[in-house]
Amino acid sequence: MTQDPPQPVLLRNSNYPAGVMGVHLSEQLIITIDGPAGTGKSSAAQQLAKRLGLEFLNTGAMYRAAAALALDAGFDQSQPEAVAKVLQDADLHFDWTTDPPEIHARDTVNNRSLNLTPRLSNVEVERLVSPLAELPEVRRQMVRKQRLIGQQHPRLVTEGRDQGTAVFPDAQVKFFISASPEIRAERRVRQHAQQGKHLDFETVRLSIIDRDHRDATRLVGPLVQPPDAHVIATDGLTLPQVVDQMYAIVMASIASQLRPST
Ligand code: DC
Repeated sequence: MTQDPPQPVLLRNSNYPAGVMGVHLSEQLIITIDGPAGTGKSSAAQQLAKRLGLEFLNTGAMYRAAAALALDAGFDQSQPEAVAKVLQDADLHFDWTTDPPEIHARDTVNNRSLNLTPRLSNVEVERLVSPLAELPEVRRQMVRKQRLIGQQHPRLVTEGRDQGTAVFPDAQVKFFISASPEIRAERRVRQHAQQGKHLDFETVRLSIIDRDHRDATRLVGPLVQPPDAHVIATDGLTLPQVVDQMYAIVMASIASQLRPST
């Protein structure tokens, strides 16, 4: 008698029995999503996590929070050791009870938790985050923290630049999201227009190309497409279509990793 192939069953967090519907599904499910800025990867990651009942880690928020802390302490990328010390003392952590998780630091002066989330898109943070993310010691601390989060939250969709390469090379499913500079420039111009601000399309397009080049050629933690990643080219796709594609790939890939329990 032939049996139907096992269907994957994904439940929130890791509190489901190891044998589901007569099959074994490994406890850990890490899905990495990497790609350049402006590809819509953060929204896609968040929605995919929701749909799969997994937790969501935004690693860009960690680098942004680091920039906010460095600014508060009066340091910038020219003082790498001081920035590293500030970061070490700050104990960056997420509040996993909020959706999406908010990022906090320890306020050592007042000995309380400081919510940095509202400041992540500030102009000063935007300006400092990229050069700060190039500092080897900053990256080392972030990678260590992200791996720890992966251990504590092993059913995770994590999004960034180096998640499928440097941080979680053994992730069960990896994605690389791409979009042409033209489409990303169009999106950026449109977003600013909605806030009443005019941006020149060609200037934005050239700055995107320049930033991609810097991201891809930096010495530490460059943006590289993991060789085993599923590439999602988002030009001409809506966000729900992108999430649908990723969801289908995750399901197919989990089904192929399932094995009958003995
Ligand atoms: O994704 P984002 O725009 O929030 O990222 C903010 C900055 O942090 C951006 O300059 C790239 C950097 N970053 C990084 O170097 N590595 C990551 N894993 C995530 C973000």
